[in-house]
Amino acid sequence: MSKILSATNGHKNLSTLTLNNGKPMPLVGHGLWKIPNENVADHVYNAIKAGYRLFDGACDYGNEVEAGQGVTRAIADGLVQRSDLFIVSKLWNTFHEKDRVEPICRKQLSDWGLEYFDLYIMHFPIAMKYVDPKIRYPPGWFDSGIDGTQIIQSSATIRDTWEAMESLVEKNLVKSIGTSNFNCASIMDLLRYAIVRPATLQIEYHPYLVQQALVDYAQSEGITVTAYSSFGLQGYVEMDLEHAVKTPHLFQNETVRKVAEVHGRVAVIPKSDSESMLKKNLHARSFDLTEDEIKSISALNCGLRFNDPLVYFGCLPIFA
Ligand SMILES: NC(=O)c1ccc[n+]([C@@H]2O[C@H](COP(=O)([O-])OP(=O)(O)OC[C@H]3O[C@@H](n4cnc5c(N)ncnc54)[C@H](OP(=O)(O)O)[C@@H]3O)[C@@H](O)[C@H]2O)c1
Repeated sequence: MSKILSATNGHKNLSTLTLNNGKPMPLVGHGLWKIPNENVADHVYNAIKAGYRLFDGACDYGNEVEAGQGVTRAIADGLVQRSDLFIVSKLWNTFHEKDRVEPICRKQLSDWGLEYFDLYIMHFPIAMKYVDPKIRYPPGWFDSGIDGTQIIQSSATIRDTWEAMESLVEKNLVKSIGTSNFNCASIMDLLRYAIVRPATLQIEYHPYLVQQALVDYAQSEGITVTAYSSFGLQGYVEMDLEHAVKTPHLFQNETVRKVAEVHGRVAVIPKSDSESMLKKNLHARSFDLTEDEIKSISALNCGLRFNDPLVYFGCLPIFA
């Protein structure tokens, strides 16, 4: 047990980034999307045991109760203390109206069994009609309306939502707030009124979708970039997304095979169901690529995006 504790003793033993509010965030975390509910508690517990400290959850992943059970068990067994962990959750699109933000954040905290999130992220710059959690949770994209196939937007502005998220920081319900799936124009606008600046920007980021201008802009504004889907198509093949299935696998690419999956000072949150992959991914932080290696990987960029409402639903072209 003491071995486990010394190997996993909070942020100090892990590579961290410092956010623009001075708080440390682990460079490598674990994503929780698509992990089946029945496995999540054990999965989180084992990942903590393996050394992960950051978990990337969301209302939309529908597994926050089970993720919280894993955390509670790890704390009860003395593997970690709450302050060693960095728990991320996300505000779903149907809770963007000002008066909906705090109640849903409190519900998510209660699902996890936590008093605060380390980071609470606006999942998409898309406001959708409110769905009462008693009726459907997680609400997903489609309104339950007449045929259950409509995406119904709400009139909440990003500013309304951001201001409500700022008040979560004031109330100590969350330590930092961030954005996801924002483009440069949306961030520029948000920075005009933000009293609490976004600590992070979480974006799809892999060799086929480098988005250098967005990464450079966010970093120039002191916003830490977190890469999601850093293995590119891999996370979407398991969903049978057509253009992911048709795309040549990154791991078969000669350039990628020669070097490695991640580079630079961006954080990553890979997801894996397998214990050996979990360990492998955690060590992604233990090497740096050379300039030439980074250049050769970046040259694979072809603007290929997988997580896009336009691709899924034929509407909401937020990245256009
Ligand atoms: N903000 C957003 O809108 C957003 C969107 C998407 C994702 N995310 C977050 O980012 C996390 C990761 O994204 P993701 O799930 O799309 O994709 P990902 O981490 O890029 O890829 C996951 C896939 O890669 C496989 N894999 C993991 N490690 C591997 C390794 N070392 N070698 C070979 N294969 C490996 C996994 O397979 P096995 O499970 O079989 O190991 C799984 O099929 C999510 O869980 C979520 O937390 C956020």
